[in-house]
Amino acid sequence: MDLYEYQAKDLFARHGVPVGPGQRIADDADAAAAAAAEFGVPVVVKAQVKTGGRGKAGGVKLADDPADARTKAEAILGLDIKGHIVRRVLVTPASDIAEEYYFSFLLDRANRTFLAMASAEGGMDIEQLAVERPDALARVAVDALAGVDLVKAREIVAAARFPEAVAEKAAEVVVKLWETFVSEDATLVEVNPLVRDPRDAIVALDGKVTLDENASFRHPGHAELVDIAAEDPLEAAAKAKDLNYVKLDGQVGIIGNGAGLVMSTLDVVAYAGEEFGGMRPANFLDIGGGASAEVMANGLEIILSDPDVRSVFVNVFGGITACDAVANGIVQAFQLLDSRGDTVSKPIVVRLDGNNAAEGRGILTDAGLPGLSQVDTMDAAARRAVELAVT
Ligand SMILES: Nc1ncnc2c1ncn2[C@@H]1O[C@H](COP(=O)(O)OP(=O)(O)OP(=O)(O)O)[C@@H](O)[C@H]1O
Ligand SMILES: [Mg+2]
Repeated sequence: MDLYEYQAKDLFARHGVPVGPGQRIADDADAAAAAAAEFGVPVVVKAQVKTGGRGKAGGVKLADDPADARTKAEAILGLDIKGHIVRRVLVTPASDIAEEYYFSFLLDRANRTFLAMASAEGGMDIEQLAVERPDALARVAVDALAGVDLVKAREIVAAARFPEAVAEKAAEVVVKLWETFVSEDATLVEVNPLVRDPRDAIVALDGKVTLDENASFRHPGHAELVDIAAEDPLEAAAKAKDLNYVKLDGQVGIIGNGAGLVMSTLDVVAYAGEEFGGMRPANFLDIGGGASAEVMANGLEIILSDPDVRSVFVNVFGGITACDAVANGIVQAFQLLDSRGDTVSKPIVVRLDGNNAAEGRGILTDAGLPGLSQVDTMDAAARRAVELAVT
């Protein structure tokens, strides 16, 4: 789960990372003006969207007084920044900036470790710096067990060539950012810019945090960070039903049992779809091993309610749950949907293979479910589902 800047800075503040003299969230221009009046100093009005490059897109503006803050908020609210519409702005006192640095902790999956990245040249596009002058961006591996103490933090700060005058203070902030990273179960903590003010204090003026949702069971407080309004409604509905669902941008709905099988199903559908003007999978949905009729019904309900979906491919390999059980589940799912008033109106292609495949296919044939057809192999079934999506 990605956090908004204001949420990231709230977390930072709780862990002792300096974040400047306060912030207010405003969802209209009046509230932005009121916040500016409350601070009584020039402020910065900043778009709150979960994407980078806000400054360049006109989403970060300085305002001299409340009237100016109103004008700037009016200009920023409603902006489309890389597909994210700005619904709220953050208002915070403008800081005096002597220098801007870059700092982040992240999970380095390729090297199976954590990584600190830091540069004395922050503020600008860090991706560009990494490509054009990689030596200006220090990368220091962090051992998960040893973590980051003051000694390690000094090593990171020195590798990034932060100026001597602020090195010790920066190292102290780095230790606190590591504490935030570990104790909140984050996979990313990024500060750009981390600034040096004219009195040589170090302050986080921006914050980007990604929390590991697999750890949310031990962070009951993280639930309130979820922005339900910004979530995809289908994904939110699927989450409420405990389904492993991810919305994609294609037209062929996918249901499978087992994440590996579903991943390969996405591939074969996309491959088959190339022949048909680029038809693509509309979602990922893994109903898991012991899929009951209810789980199948819930899955079908989510997928059929997606207006982008034109056909559905149910791809099941019978293992511990044999195909006859899954077939019975599909039949009951149709009945369940019917009783909920959702008649199945889109074509569904089912491929059953594995344990008791013949029995399962027989059950579906006998049931004669409307719009449901069976194809015995995965490739041919993918092709059929794509054809049905086109017609
Ligand atoms: N409180 C502040 N006071 C003064 N200047 C600020 C303040 N916050 C941001 N700025 C200036 O605006 C620039 C951009 O701000 P920020 O880093 O928050 O947005 P961004 O980098 O464009 O967005 P993103 O990090 O999402 O790419 C900063 O580099 C800094 O120069
Ligand atoms: Mg930034």
